[in-house]
Amino acid sequence: MVALSAAADKGINRGAAPVTYGQGDRPPRGDYAAARADYTCEQDWNAYTAADHDLYRRLYERQSAQLPGFACEEFIGAVAHLGSPSQIPRFDALTDKVYRATKWQVVAVPGLIPEEAFFSLLSQRKFPVTGWIRRPEEFDYVVEPDVFHDLFGHVPLLFNPMFADYMQAYGTGGLKASRLESCEYLARLYWYTVEFGLIDTPAGLRAYGAGILSSAGELRHSVTSPQPQRLGFDLERIMRTRYKIDSFQASYFVIDSFRQLFDATAPDFTPVYARVAQMGELDAEQRLSTDRVF
Ligand code: PHE
Ligand code: FE
Repeated sequence: MVALSAAADKGINRGAAPVTYGQGDRPPRGDYAAARADYTCEQDWNAYTAADHDLYRRLYERQSAQLPGFACEEFIGAVAHLGSPSQIPRFDALTDKVYRATKWQVVAVPGLIPEEAFFSLLSQRKFPVTGWIRRPEEFDYVVEPDVFHDLFGHVPLLFNPMFADYMQAYGTGGLKASRLESCEYLARLYWYTVEFGLIDTPAGLRAYGAGILSSAGELRHSVTSPQPQRLGFDLERIMRTRYKIDSFQASYFVIDSFRQLFDATAPDFTPVYARVAQMGELDAEQRLSTDRVF
């Protein structure tokens, strides 16, 4: 599955609702008329059907069964906070738990939202989660992020204090990147960390990116396949690297710890964006002599 909730894909139609992904002519799936100015809305939990809950349960069970050995321990330890797999969680109940842990909140949105709205919510420690769930025929692959990707993929690590702080810093940094017209660089950072990041642990490489963790096929692939390259985290290298939105990633970037991720992204990015703009872009599969290869 390609899981899209990166800043990039939330940002195509800045300021305009509804938001659709890419050039697609698919109609937006959420009810944007019901959204507030900040794009949040009510979850409307009662509108989920028994079939919706059942689909969520099947997705949850397939995914949780394959976490051991592939997902990082921080994620595995926090998945239980999502509550019973048999029903789509109530976002309010999740907020009660995650707020107590790290002061984050889970808020409902109709679907993809403009990048500024997305950054603004993150900067307030509010994580936007899509209300709708995919159709049964999209069990293996859904183009846009749905409630399963957003909740299962993203919410568990919001319980981790260091990662939680990184997500907020990312939001604040996004608002700044918008002013500097550097959102594309920052979106790549989101993609290669929050969505498709790997972490080096004593037990071996593990996934912490939500796009991997909510994907049936890419979880094992990202950790064990000889096909993709796995490179040491390098901020400017990542900002130069294009990514694939319709296939498994050709490159994954590996962090040593959430502390490393937080510290490496703490400095002011203004000069970083200027340097990266000079250096030029890289294709997803490119290899540099300076890459630290895993
Ligand atoms: N340090 C970044 C800046 O000044 C903000 C940021 C932090 C961006 C963490 C992403 C992640 O722009
Ligand atoms: Fe996502």
